[in-house]
Amino acid sequence: MHGQSEPDPPYSQEGQPGRGPAALRRSTRVVILTGAGISAESGVPTFRGPGGLWRSYRAEDLATPQAFRRDPELVWQWYDWRRSVVGACLPNAAHRALADMERALDDFVLVTQNVDGLHRLAGSRRVLELHGNIWRLRCTLECRPPWDDRRDPLPEIPPRCPACGALARPDVVWFGEALPGEVLAAAMDASRRCALMLVVGTSALVQPAASLPLLALENGAHLVEINPQATPLSRLAGEVLREPAARALPRWWAERRPGG
Ligand code: OAD
Repeated sequence: MHGQSEPDPPYSQEGQPGRGPAALRRSTRVVILTGAGISAESGVPTFRGPGGLWRSYRAEDLATPQAFRRDPELVWQWYDWRRSVVGACLPNAAHRALADMERALDDFVLVTQNVDGLHRLAGSRRVLELHGNIWRLRCTLECRPPWDDRRDPLPEIPPRCPACGALARPDVVWFGEALPGEVLAAAMDASRRCALMLVVGTSALVQPAASLPLLALENGAHLVEINPQATPLSRLAGEVLREPAARALPRWWAERRPGG
């Protein structure tokens, strides 16, 4: 479609003895899209599932520029709490399977909506963080580039820019804000080119991330969803695993890991 060439079929035709019928090729172009569900078994609460509320606030109430303008201290208390939750969590078997996948495939892109940094901690290197990273801060006056700050808890709430003293904010994308342009462009490009997209642990409700699988499908990619719950993508997926990611993903990968 759209004048692009059809991608190669993602799976080898003949299969490999002892590996099941569907090993990937090393050259298969694979894109992974992850959401909060992949970190659920590490102990990070999802946004729209149980444990998603902080005090009585939903993410949509706090993760906005308006909320930050109104009450930066409240928003920072929430982020300080989220940082403490995430800081106590370790990558799980699903994160580790994706790090192994990156090593085993030549053309692999991991796109995540998560800001928790667990993919990198698991060993993934080529990670496109669509919504930023909770361990990075930036100056609201943009007097300098964003910086890492892993202190937990933060010594001062709200934190200030060490260079100019203006308010600092988390280097994450809030509702109503644009995604980092280059990161989004790279994710869209990879999605259009891939032969296989694996969507793991996202409710697929938040745009533009939720439309990446549609770009992949337009170009004939095979779509796999791993999620215990149905999502708007489920009926479009060629393969659906209704299981938690830490169980389903390592098994799916073990069955399809290219030989040699
Ligand atoms: P959600 O909380 O909307 O969805 C989490 C998904 O994970 C749900 O579909 C669950 O069924 C699924 N899930 C739960 N446990 C799972 C498990 N063990 N294994 C696999 N899946 C599991 O989170 P996201 O889709 O990531 O944006 O939300 C998207 C964006 O909305 C977030 O990045 C954040 C949020 O507000 C910003 O902060 C900009």
